[in-house]
Amino acid sequence: MKTIETGASAGSRLHIHTTSSHSFYIIGTGGHARECAAIWEARCVAGIETNPELFLGFLDDDTAKHFTSVATKTVHGSLRMVIDMLTTSPTVRPVELVCGIGSVEVRARMSETVRAAQKSGASVRWRPQLIHPLASIGTDCRAGEGFIMNAGAILTTEIQMGRHVHLNIGSSVSHDCQIGHFVTIAPGARLAGTVHVGDRTDIGMQASVIQLRRLGSDVRIGAGAAVITDVPDTMVAVGVPARLLPRRADRGERPVT
Ligand SMILES: CC(C)(COP(=O)(O)OP(=O)(O)OC[C@H]1O[C@@H](n2cnc3c(N)ncnc32)[C@H](O)[C@@H]1OP(=O)(O)O)[C@@H](O)C(=O)NCCC(=O)NCCS
Repeated sequence: MKTIETGASAGSRLHIHTTSSHSFYIIGTGGHARECAAIWEARCVAGIETNPELFLGFLDDDTAKHFTSVATKTVHGSLRMVIDMLTTSPTVRPVELVCGIGSVEVRARMSETVRAAQKSGASVRWRPQLIHPLASIGTDCRAGEGFIMNAGAILTTEIQMGRHVHLNIGSSVSHDCQIGHFVTIAPGARLAGTVHVGDRTDIGMQASVIQLRRLGSDVRIGAGAAVITDVPDTMVAVGVPARLLPRRADRGERPVT
């Protein structure tokens, strides 16, 4: 795979912010959060980031983890504690956040929490993006704040993405796709050209979606599915070719936690 440097020189064509000089925390201490830390480390090793100390550490609601060490960094407290501190003692330079939470619903809720904190005067904001140096980005790709792209993920050309989109390892998105807010594309999943994806939709590992299809909001695509039809809002699509199911709650079953 050809690797395209995502540094500042290419920024004008990518329409994706490529770096920030602000300090930041990663929210969460689970696998995704630690992978975000690994992306940061890879950016530092590649020389894209010149100040490794900008990464302050992790935040987690679990008080048992506070002031312990995760991936060589300290868990400083919860998001709420940091927001309260930044509301009562505003800093001139906003502190940034990276959302290291895999759940699309939790990401959406956190976005609301941070928006409310900003309205209350907290000097906090989302880091624009965290893109692994071995991710590949073509021309005219746009992403909202909080964009995360793991190693081997590919965006080809003329792709629009909303806020807090996560492209996991080795996933690919082809020309003219439109991706909503808080969407996750899991490892190895592939979208062909001109696919539309609604907000909070989660596309499972190694799933494929053929061209020109529309996935609604709050859709779940099962691992390995081959999606050849549109998928309405809130539906689940599994299998090859994918069959559609109502989500668990609409089947009267308890959701898996
Ligand atoms: C589809 C998924 C979201 C579960 O949705 P769900 O509504 O809870 O589905 P259930 O577990 O109730 O299963 C419903 C049916 O779909 C089938 N099914 C579930 N996942 C499937 C999959 N990936 N492929 C094929 N069939 C699947 C079940 O066997 C069941 O079949 P049945 O109706 O014949 O009994 C989940 O199985 C999945 O594939 N998640 C993606 C995981 C992933 O890629 N994670 C990435 C981590 S980085």
